[in-house]
Amino acid sequence: MDARIDEIADGIFRLSVHVPQIAPPAGFTFNHFLLLGEEPLLFHTGLRRMFPLLHAALARLMPPERLRWISFGHYEADECGAMNEWLAVAPHAEVAHGQTGCMVSLNDMADRAPRILQDGQVIELGRGKRLRYIDTPHTPHGWDAGILLDETTGTLLCGDLFTQAGDGPALTEGDILGPAIAGEDMFGYSSLNPEMGATIRRLARYTPRTLALMHGPSYRGDGAAALHALADDYDRRLLARMPAARAP
Ligand SMILES: [Fe+2]
Ligand SMILES: [Fe+2]
Repeated sequence: MDARIDEIADGIFRLSVHVPQIAPPAGFTFNHFLLLGEEPLLFHTGLRRMFPLLHAALARLMPPERLRWISFGHYEADECGAMNEWLAVAPHAEVAHGQTGCMVSLNDMADRAPRILQDGQVIELGRGKRLRYIDTPHTPHGWDAGILLDETTGTLLCGDLFTQAGDGPALTEGDILGPAIAGEDMFGYSSLNPEMGATIRRLARYTPRTLALMHGPSYRGDGAAALHALADDYDRRLLARMPAARAP
């Protein structure tokens, strides 16, 4: 197993690991994003057991001990399993996450106190790079769910949204909705909830130009249109299940 490294937007590197044993025969990718700046940030720490592999991959781009920020979508092994391993090798690194994530998990589970981000708060990485944190509770899953938007490049680090199986290209301008619908049908990983469509449409207002998927290729194009289409699909799923919810 090896990590494939690609620059998907200016200063944003995708460290991708394909695991053929998950969802065979296509397999499944885990993507971790390194944002370079005076204060480099890693979005998704990777699984704890993947740490040696990702540490070696990141070291090809920068000295790992210089990492300043560690962030991720929500508290789950693939998003943050290696959080404490990164904190151990990077003495100035801080975990940054939303209020819910810190309160529910990170104040206890992180080896150093996390920095709490308010909904809409911006972190400056230096060299003009600004990251905005946005709460997305229960979307696609996890009460603590949130995402980051790199305002400099218009890149939405969208975590598990648009999850798909397979090992596609690092960057695509093709369809990501169809594979995401197939992914939801296959895994059923989302917590369908009445706010979901509105939460995703709120992200579309930022009109991202690149969508950096945790499980799938990064997408370059009309990010708002893709997000609206995804929101519509979740609304459709929710409405389709309403009669079952009402049945005695
Ligand atoms: Fe997840
Ligand atoms: Fe994930």
